[in-house]
Amino acid sequence: MPDVNPFVYSRPVAPENVLDREPEISQLLSLARGGHYVRLYAPRRFGKTSLLRKALAEAERDGELVPVLVDLYGVLSYADVTIRIERAYSHLHGPIRKTIESILRTTGLGLSLGAPGISVKLQLEPRTDPLPALHALLDLPERVAERSGSRVLVALDEFQDIAKVGDFDKLLRSHIQHQGEVASYIFCGSEPGMMRELFDVKGRPLYGQAEPLRLGRLPDDEIAAYIVERFARTRRGADRVLDALLATARGHPQRAMLLAHRLWDEVAPGKAADEDDWQTALARTRNQVAAEFDALWRGLEANEQRALRAVALFPDAPYGARALGAVDLKKSGAHYAVRSLLAKGELEEEDGRTVFVDPLFELWLRDVQRGSPGDEDASV
Ligand SMILES: Nc1ncnc2c1ncn2[C@@H]1O[C@H](COP(=O)(O)OP(=O)(O)OP(=O)(O)O)[C@@H](O)[C@H]1O
Ligand SMILES: [Mg+2]
Repeated sequence: MPDVNPFVYSRPVAPENVLDREPEISQLLSLARGGHYVRLYAPRRFGKTSLLRKALAEAERDGELVPVLVDLYGVLSYADVTIRIERAYSHLHGPIRKTIESILRTTGLGLSLGAPGISVKLQLEPRTDPLPALHALLDLPERVAERSGSRVLVALDEFQDIAKVGDFDKLLRSHIQHQGEVASYIFCGSEPGMMRELFDVKGRPLYGQAEPLRLGRLPDDEIAAYIVERFARTRRGADRVLDALLATARGHPQRAMLLAHRLWDEVAPGKAADEDDWQTALARTRNQVAAEFDALWRGLEANEQRALRAVALFPDAPYGARALGAVDLKKSGAHYAVRSLLAKGELEEEDGRTVFVDPLFELWLRDVQRGSPGDEDASV
């Protein structure tokens, strides 16, 4: 058997490698079966896409729902949205795919699940009006139900990005409000501020329309079992340094997998990880993520930077006089900055405390404070 690192950290994981999340998946599917809309929220890299793929695979396997996963990452226009929805349907297989192909053909709009679909047309003739095709795609669940009797489950991943696309939420609502019997929708997003803007502001088309479901951190014992099992399967041990890894990852799903990946790399087959392996893995991880945090940091307002520093240095009392004095921030400025960082998903409230979403960001910030921004040792 090839000696392959079993920890994926840079893309959604395959359904069989999704750890835990069973309660969320069954809740999601039970709401979907009932025709309810769900708004699934989690910070970046908490495993939203992995969970959606697993939930949709389960729904498809049971033959009860036609799963459609639309990736709206970075959409800027109706044309973009149209292309993404067409692409999402193109992942379907079997008889349902044929049914949908034939429905699309009858629209005469150039929509197709094969290679020469609307995406190609919009790219070759950028002045084509995408709206007729978009309307047809948004009506598709009704047509599918007429022909096949199946309910369509549409998951819209990175949904907050539609805020940049005109009145797309209005357009979407005008279609889906008639689809209670034929389609269910999951709106998935990672920016709490944007999601609130779309769903919690009175007068917005989707106001109050979806049942909120939040994806939290992963429990330490589940992460531990997952890591130990994969180390064992690849003839390695992690027991001695597992606690340190869990304490560093703080239940952040992607950070846990990244740290496990780096640690695994330090350990030869047949060996168990020791403290040196862990320290090297941690240093390499910190080095790997430093550029990302540097870019993130530069994009923040000065008061946001001050507030983050206060939280990192005085986690127990970031609004206290000592903390604010140390980072040169007024109380009102601190509250405003923290609100904005919560909306961006950099900080979150946990048991009445304000904490970093990403534990590695906090470590990086402490390094910066000490004057050594993560690259003490350029060789790692
Ligand atoms: N339930 C899980 N089991 C195992 N690994 C997970 C799980 N959830 C998240 N991860 C880890 O997090 C990484 C990111 O997962 P995924 O892409 O699904 O998250 P996301 O929330 O969709 O991220 P993004 O905000 O970047 O779209 C995965 O590569 C994996 O390392
Ligand atoms: Mg994702």
